Amino acid sequence: MTDQPIRVEVLSGSVREGRVGPAVASWFLEQARALPEFDAGLIDLGDYELSDRLSANPPAATGAALAEITPRLGAADAFVVVTPEYNHSFPASLKTAIDWHHAEWQGKPVGLVSYGGVSGGLRAAEHLRQVFAELNATTVRNTVSFHRFSAKDHGPWDDFGDVGDQDAATAARALLDQLGWWALALREARAARPYRA
Ligand SMILES: Cc1cc2nc3c(=O)[nH]c(=O)nc-3n(C[C@H](O)[C@H](O)[C@H](O)COP(=O)(O)O)c2cc1C
Repeated sequence: MTDQPIRVEVLSGSVREGRVGPAVASWFLEQARALPEFDAGLIDLGDYELSDRLSANPPAATGAALAEITPRLGAADAFVVVTPEYNHSFPASLKTAIDWHHAEWQGKPVGLVSYGGVSGGLRAAEHLRQVFAELNATTVRNTVSFHRFSAKDHGPWDDFGDVGDQDAATAARALLDQLGWWALALREARAARPYRA
């Protein structure tokens, strides 16, 4: 079982018009895909319409979005959440995507990649730890953070060119090493005994 690649879903949380999130998410995806032990996919919330009105009968666009997203989250061994910082926390779009799900998160590790102004999104990342603890998911210690990383500082994201420097790549590697350890350990644990929340 440990010889199967670790399926990691990278969740890009910003849906803002003019967002820079895709530059960070695609940079991180490259870091993960460079390591043979990972099989990494991208879920860009900007590609979906997720209503924040949680319901057993969601509107058609939300139903269609969930039909794609939910099975991918359920099949994942691990997650990496890419988040900007809005008003000292993470964006509502991300909370909505998290709240539509429950069992899909539990007993799995979550890595955090953040960006923002001077704080590099670290407050958003720390808030996410509290939310994932409630969902019986474990966040890994190391993070990657990009400081002064906004359209104001850099211009449109598709003009960014290279996002991360060597320090960022080193930080991503440390995060992925921790995520991989937890992903394999928890995959084996979930197979041995179903997680009971
Ligand atoms: C509504 C809003 C609130 C923000 N609040 C903060 C903040 O509290 N701290 C910070 O460092 N940056 C803050 N920023 C800056 C964003 O983190 C930065 O612009 C980031 O690049 C936004 O990501 P996005 O373009 O992918 O949406 C805020 C931006 C917005 C739009």
